[in-house]
Amino acid sequence: MILQKENFIKIDTMSTSYVIRITAKGDIENLYFGEKLLSDDFDCLCQQNSVLLVNTLYPEGDESYTIDAMRFEYSFPHRGDSRSAAGFLRNNDGENFDFVYVKTHVNQKFDNPNIAKSHGDCERLSIELIDKAKNVTCYLHYIVYAQSDVICRYTQIVNNSNQPVKIIKLMSCQLDIACDNEWKLINFHGAWCRERDKVERKIEQGKIVCCSSSGLSSPECNPFFMVAQNNADNNFGECYAFNLIYSANHEISVEKSPYSTIRITNGMASDGFELLLDSQQEFVTPESVLTYSNHGYNGVSNNMRAFVKNNIINCNAQVPIMINTWEGIYFDITQEKLMQVTDYAKKLGMQAVIIDDGWFLNRNDDATSLGDWTYDKSKFKSGIKYVSDYVHNAGLKFGIWLEPEMISVDSELYRSHSEWAIKDDNIRHIVGRGQYILDLTNPQVVEYIKSVIDKVVNEYGADYIKWDFNRKFAEVGGGSKSGEFFYRYTNNLYEILNYANKTYPQVVIEGCASGGGRFDLGIMCFCPIVWVSDNTNPTSRVLSQEGSSYGYPISVFVNHISQSPNHQTLRQSTLKSRADVAYFGRLGVQMDITKLSNQEFKQLYIKIATYKKYMHIIEDSIFYRLSDGGESNYSIWQAMDKNAENGLLLIFQKSYNTVSSLPKAKLKGLDTNAIYSLVGVSQEDIGVAHASGDTLMKAGFSLPQNFQGVKFEKNTSRLLDGGTALFEIRKVRNKGQ
Ligand code: GLA
Repeated sequence: MILQKENFIKIDTMSTSYVIRITAKGDIENLYFGEKLLSDDFDCLCQQNSVLLVNTLYPEGDESYTIDAMRFEYSFPHRGDSRSAAGFLRNNDGENFDFVYVKTHVNQKFDNPNIAKSHGDCERLSIELIDKAKNVTCYLHYIVYAQSDVICRYTQIVNNSNQPVKIIKLMSCQLDIACDNEWKLINFHGAWCRERDKVERKIEQGKIVCCSSSGLSSPECNPFFMVAQNNADNNFGECYAFNLIYSANHEISVEKSPYSTIRITNGMASDGFELLLDSQQEFVTPESVLTYSNHGYNGVSNNMRAFVKNNIINCNAQVPIMINTWEGIYFDITQEKLMQVTDYAKKLGMQAVIIDDGWFLNRNDDATSLGDWTYDKSKFKSGIKYVSDYVHNAGLKFGIWLEPEMISVDSELYRSHSEWAIKDDNIRHIVGRGQYILDLTNPQVVEYIKSVIDKVVNEYGADYIKWDFNRKFAEVGGGSKSGEFFYRYTNNLYEILNYANKTYPQVVIEGCASGGGRFDLGIMCFCPIVWVSDNTNPTSRVLSQEGSSYGYPISVFVNHISQSPNHQTLRQSTLKSRADVAYFGRLGVQMDITKLSNQEFKQLYIKIATYKKYMHIIEDSIFYRLSDGGESNYSIWQAMDKNAENGLLLIFQKSYNTVSSLPKAKLKGLDTNAIYSLVGVSQEDIGVAHASGDTLMKAGFSLPQNFQGVKFEKNTSRLLDGGTALFEIRKVRNKGQ
């Protein structure tokens, strides 16, 4: 709900309030963002912002307006605020901008110019500001998703002047919070095969900037981050969380001033960004997603989960349990092999066969052929359609791997359209995996990629596309529009993906970028599932999945059971650990299933059947991290259906220590008045509980002790290095029944 009273605006969501004041000088000031305020005591909120400081700047004639200590909703430079400004514009004459409040608009019905779905019970607040002398307007937009406790912010510039405006920096959001307590920044760094490692740092005076500059949202720095009280953890403490609905270079900045404020901004990266906005044109930033909870990280995660499920994911097609040919078969994929894989996949109870890399013209290693999306006749002599018919006749879906934004020098496409590759002949050329990126800012390239999608769906019969992207950008630039490049590239990528979604609603597109390098809300608007990481070894994977779970629902994760030893880490692991960890997401298998022994085949069959039993929990569950997996020896996860009736509890142990006590899992979100049973999912999962929701949440559930040195039996040491225990949580009855 958006309430405007005199010069105050109060936004209420289910559990939070966000209060803004329009000052007498026409600036927009943040008074409060936190737990829901039940009354409108605006005057009390104002007092905290009026600090008298001797050496700060103030507008002529008003010493109490201490600009450096105020909390602004958006700042432009050169107005006495020495913190970094969220926006920076210049006109042709090099003049600075000074925006002043004009009016407020509240809309129940509106068109969101961005890519999230704004429908249902959301409303939009738009604060209109103007630099009258230059006739340029700035809007601060807030889309309020009350049910999810989420507010999306974006910034719009409308150039009504008769000269161009240069946009040098335009963040989606600026939030100044009061920092009477100590706060920390928690965000997610990493690299290929180590995506979304949680990093915590104390916020001290000064500025922390984290960004991606490789051209994609990147494994190095995910756009999701949290700012929380120093003592916050998974379940306790105040926590703000932010994300960005954008897939290219982005920037997170957190700045603590000496005057008890922390300024948080996020948006498109300002490094290298510059956009010339012609007269009568407008520009809109991507959306920043904000939420707050005083129930720690799990609180904000579940707000984000609800928002992503309702307003980002846009695909109703069923996600199948899949066999993917990559790690089992690599480039040796052939028609005969694929048909054999199909027979085995069917017997194993799988629902789709996905041909990964290696199926197209002369693609026998990763050095050639990207761009030539025609099947290789030497591998598929009867054609891909023949194979997809075979898969369909077996009752399975058929999927195909594409890397449509790429071009190999050794390809037919390059020979006919070398000018489509992003290259700058003024500098030495740079390749990644031997390939170049196609210039999606070129409309011809956009049309070509759309035609590739048409071909694989209509001619090859694909129901599923794995959309990969395997190198970072380089050589971008040259030309007057280079500062706009990533913004334009990304918008055109979204246009292509939107075309695919709209034209072929039955086709599921899996997002992928050398593992989880483009794991962001922009991609998720079009791809309901995203490959988490190329690292499928459970000890590493547990961290990537857990890191991803802070900002994203587990129903988006694609997880495959691969072989042991793992092809990336060379570590050994049990099938049980691989499967138990992979269950917390969309399941696939990535091994040569035609070469399994009878016993291995049977075991895998059981693992798949088990997943089917619990799939409904994964598809739409509330997910809780019950331990801090990064720090401790354990990752403990609980996924619970929305009615708190059926769930899964995973205990993952990184390394086995003798004479150590096992952790307690204090469950969350149960019905205090109901009795639950906790039963091992497989026979190795020893330990049963039968207790009320109340007891399981307050006292917790613990596994029986491990082996302690007497009477060794095979089963006594039940949690090995990288071992798992998995339990089904089931509501049995209400108390007293
Ligand atoms: C990337 C993906 C892998 C696989 C290969 C194929 O690395 O992350 O899953 O598809 O490309 O070349």
